[in-house]
Amino acid sequence: MNKLQSFNENGYLIIEHFNSQEECDALMKRSKELTDEFNFDGHPSIFQTNEQSRTSDDYFLNSGDKISFFFEKDAFDENKQLKSDLFHSLNKIGHGLHDIDSVFDGFSRSAQMKQLSTELQLNSHVIIQSMLIFKHAKIGGVVDIHQDASFLYTEPHSCIGFWYALEDATTENGCLWAKPGGHQTSLRSWFRKKETGGTELHFLDETPYSMEGMIPLEVKKGSCIVLHGLLPHYSLPNTSGKSRQAYAIHTIDKGADYSKLNWLQRDLSTLKGI
Ligand code: FE2
Repeated sequence: MNKLQSFNENGYLIIEHFNSQEECDALMKRSKELTDEFNFDGHPSIFQTNEQSRTSDDYFLNSGDKISFFFEKDAFDENKQLKSDLFHSLNKIGHGLHDIDSVFDGFSRSAQMKQLSTELQLNSHVIIQSMLIFKHAKIGGVVDIHQDASFLYTEPHSCIGFWYALEDATTENGCLWAKPGGHQTSLRSWFRKKETGGTELHFLDETPYSMEGMIPLEVKKGSCIVLHGLLPHYSLPNTSGKSRQAYAIHTIDKGADYSKLNWLQRDLSTLKGI
């Protein structure tokens, strides 16, 4: 079975040794530099990993073409002071890294990505968002089960995620979980803008996710996991002493209808492919 057949059958695809150790290290080094340059003004945007309470403030909503910093929801004490140092308080950086920063641009549009994009017949796809996810040791929180298409709604569905392990991902430090074939289901919800401002989780199908058959996608540093936009997936908190940094990009088909109600709005004519 080739990569495309395997992806279509399982709803995900794991490619080991996709990026070199050096490429992973360079991305983590760049993330640390960006964090060191971040001028934290004491007004945090907290990335709620529970999607229903995901922050909808302007900092979040305007982050599509920027390098913005999001905190773990438990990063602050009752006096709104960071409990740990800044770096270890962060949940992620997003969502325009791939278009703004040359190191992230190079990683997102590497020779192996161009080849994979051809193998998966994604030549009409453009990269619409990117995230560096820290999942720090003992700090990184749960990411509730969700489908990525909820956040990047197109008609027809076309969202695809590429999740790169910058460090080993195990059940101890919060690897991804999913079910083979789990993408053959309906889209449950749509995270969208409200006319009155802010965002809402609009339910399209209230059938609960089936957790039966979920398996941990444990991968080594340098692996790439391709995720179908309808594949329900989640990750557990990092209870270990090892961090689990990952980088993720999402693509959509530029020929699909991208909703103006999606939280993330970019000038689609300017978006570049892989
Ligand atoms: Fe996801």
